Amino acid sequence: MRLVRRSRPGAAASALLALAALAALAAQSGCCAVPVPPAPPVPLAAPEVGLEAANPLRPLPEPPLGSPADWAAVPWVTPAKVRLGRWLFFDTRLSADGTLSCASCHQPSLAFSQPTPRSTGIRGQQGTRKAPPILNAAFPVYPAFFWDGRAASLAEQAKGPIANPIEMGHTLDGAAAAIRGVAGYRPWFREAFGDERVDIDRIAEAIAAYEATRLSGNSRADRFDAGDATALTAAEQRGRALFFGRGACATCHLGPNLTDGKFHNVGIGWRAPPPGAPPERGFEDLGRAAVSHDPRDTGAFKTPTLRDCSRHAPYMHDGSVATLREAVALYRTNGQANPWKSEKLRAGPLSWEDVDDLVAFLGALDGEGFDDEPPRRFPH
Ligand code: HEC
Ligand code: HEC
Repeated sequence: MRLVRRSRPGAAASALLALAALAALAAQSGCCAVPVPPAPPVPLAAPEVGLEAANPLRPLPEPPLGSPADWAAVPWVTPAKVRLGRWLFFDTRLSADGTLSCASCHQPSLAFSQPTPRSTGIRGQQGTRKAPPILNAAFPVYPAFFWDGRAASLAEQAKGPIANPIEMGHTLDGAAAAIRGVAGYRPWFREAFGDERVDIDRIAEAIAAYEATRLSGNSRADRFDAGDATALTAAEQRGRALFFGRGACATCHLGPNLTDGKFHNVGIGWRAPPPGAPPERGFEDLGRAAVSHDPRDTGAFKTPTLRDCSRHAPYMHDGSVATLREAVALYRTNGQANPWKSEKLRAGPLSWEDVDDLVAFLGALDGEGFDDEPPRRFPH
């Protein structure tokens, strides 16, 4: 699963120590014919050394098959920013009470999504939306982040949760001050940005650089597309044909991330309002319309990527759909009817066998290239 082989912190240091011990032994006894080179000094006490091993500088990962990642297109993503961003992404000091990091809601093993319908922020506050996965995120068809697209870049996006009172609950200034107060971070800001200044734009850019390296590709569907006819089972191949054909899923779930990056109403969250009430009351969450102020966007949300979707139930912007099979089954009847439902929903009628085949195909979209774990040590 891992794209970059992780150097085990401590392994190199203990090898060096062993060498040093051997050298000392050799010097004492004067026995050995084989000259043992003097071991370089190992300043284990210096905190930077431990930090280096805990979060090593790595080359940008080779994009896996099918991932749209293209490092030349994002020259601001550098290994040094990625390293710094990896610390920040997992650092709870970015939240007002020190309890949450980005990774609290975007868990690596769940494609950087969450297993709960809605997020719980600091002090147990309930959010209203599901945390989406973060995969191939720096390479969208259209740059629009959040379910309603209110952020236009990954770096802009990263500031959102920090300052959201019910997520990390900080102010942007407060979060920057908290990180600025950590002297141990300064050398890494210098490495990434040329000097030690710590501000919210640099914090956001470093986090975005780290997110940019969370890629997904080399799924069985990617290998099938690349010509390996044995990569998909018969059911998965039927599902694939439906997805791109009669099911019309690819009208919206298209391109390398299986999303058009646009906003559509498929009826999630609709509850018919009482007679006489304005119809938009049927949506607790107006979605894109709250950002675009265009009533036609009522109840419309960004088409999510379907890469690795089997890994992060529940589904949809409000996490209201428990399983992948239930999510696909909603399309049997072309989504939930409501006054703003997309005309692009043309899948139905789908048989239950069609649903199973589609679910099988979606499972073949599980890829690799994003897995990670928190750095073992953080700057102090
Ligand atoms: C309390 C849980 C929580 C925390 C903490 C959190 N997020 Fe999120 N994240 C969410 C939720 C919920 C959404 C969807 C919100 C929306 O669409 O309005 C989201 C959306 C996103 C998206 C948009 C993905 C897309 O496809 O549009 C990205 C990227 C992201 N978060 C990154 C981060 C980063 C970086 C941090 C840390 C600075 C962070 N998140 C902290 C819950 C959280
Ligand atoms: C009109 C555009 C459109 C079409 C066509 C479409 N989808 Fe979607 N799909 C969406 C949108 C938008 C969402 C998110 C809706 C929400 O949360 O309110 C979504 C959500 C999903 C999800 C949940 C993903 C997640 O991470 O929560 C799955 C699975 C899915 N679609 C599969 C399909 C399949 C299979 C088809 C074909 C049968 C299909 N979609 C056709 C737009 C579309």
